Amino acid sequence: MISKMLKLGAVLVALVSIWLGMCFYTTIPVKMGFYRFLSTLNPVLIGIMPIFLEGVPWGYTWEEYYSPETLQLLKGQRAIVTGGNSGIGFDLAMALFNNGVDVTITCRSELKCATAKQAIEAEGGLNKGRLFTMLMDTSSFASVRSFCENYVTTFSDHPIDMLFFNAGTNFIKLKNPEDNPDCAPKTAADGIDYLFQVNYLSHHLMYRLLEPFLAPNARIVHTSSASAFSTFSYKVATDLETLHGCSEPYLKSFTMENLSYGQSKLAQDLWCKALTRKLGLVNSNISANAFHPGLVNTAIFEKITAVSDIPNQAFMQDTIIPKYAWQSPDGALTGLFLATHFDSRGKYYHPQAIEVVNELAVDESLQDKLWDFSEELVQDYLTPIRGSVKAENEVAE
Ligand SMILES: NC(=O)c1ccc[n+]([C@@H]2O[C@H](COP(=O)([O-])OP(=O)(O)OC[C@H]3O[C@@H](n4cnc5c(N)ncnc54)[C@H](OP(=O)(O)O)[C@@H]3O)[C@@H](O)[C@H]2O)c1
Repeated sequence: MISKMLKLGAVLVALVSIWLGMCFYTTIPVKMGFYRFLSTLNPVLIGIMPIFLEGVPWGYTWEEYYSPETLQLLKGQRAIVTGGNSGIGFDLAMALFNNGVDVTITCRSELKCATAKQAIEAEGGLNKGRLFTMLMDTSSFASVRSFCENYVTTFSDHPIDMLFFNAGTNFIKLKNPEDNPDCAPKTAADGIDYLFQVNYLSHHLMYRLLEPFLAPNARIVHTSSASAFSTFSYKVATDLETLHGCSEPYLKSFTMENLSYGQSKLAQDLWCKALTRKLGLVNSNISANAFHPGLVNTAIFEKITAVSDIPNQAFMQDTIIPKYAWQSPDGALTGLFLATHFDSRGKYYHPQAIEVVNELAVDESLQDKLWDFSEELVQDYLTPIRGSVKAENEVAE
């Protein structure tokens, strides 16, 4: 009996190894529709890597983005892209710039801003817009407020058409999980969970401060993540005790960070839904949506390696990402779709422009609680910024 089981086990191991070998080194599983089949089982997988879309028509293409209609729509508009010096933000900015948009990218240092500006302007084609840079660190509310004040003072002549809430990071700390046995969160400058503030909360503050300066038909686009499907049992904290508590203390530091990242990314989807309901589905022309860019080959993975001991990180970095991930421009494409399509509101998308429902984000009471919690956390920075663009908007309406 035991020897029969061992033989069966050996056969299974051999079959799995052959299948994995085929997956990594041949295109047979792709041609068989294996990945497409997997994504019908689990929406998290839709578009996560290009192979998962093999044979499925894209919901949006570069041809559509670089069409005369899109150029006509975007030319002369204003966009802000947070974290626009690198990766997906850089490619969002580049594509907007190439379609006639005046883009302001935010970065954490003058050098990063200058390098990105030079690279984007060097690629600008016939229809290029203008490229501006400003400093902002989303780990500090003071920095966010200062950016908003600078922006409003500098660009008082035209309302904001597009806000791309893209700046973000994931694993941020401890080389060694043993360094953090009580799973205490790393906090940002304002004493708030770092990932929550950097990825989500500072963008809430930015929206609240810039809201009076938005154009009619403004589009707000969050770069979220499929990690939003993987969060704490409470989904998203709506009070400080939960946000900073250690309700699941058995978790290793790596898992804590993983779930904290998922929490911050789910918050973005919940926020879009909360705002959409606040604005009113029928009455408001402002749209807010979130998208997962896919697994995208960007600097975010080098940063992970630099700070964390994630299991299998080298394998991810050296094998999976270069071979299977989206390239950064294609990671930006769904965000560009959301900036150019006015009928999507409070929704969440995967590449390329495929709407996906995350059941964790549909709870309206959670959406409202998160909004109220966010208001509470940023309240000291909410004094309205004085500026004249709103008056211009009102005339335009
Ligand atoms: N790459 C993926 O596979 C993937 C998947 C799902 C979601 N995302 C999301 O996509 C967004 C862009 O990431 P990426 O992949 O393009 O990575 P990236 O190349 O590292 O870009 C991240 C951008 O955010 C900025 N940023 C990080 N912390 C910041 C802070 N405290 N204040 C201001 N800016 C800050 C970075 O600035 P520095 O250059 O100064 O670090 C950089 O400009 C993130 O929100 C990320 O969560 C990425």
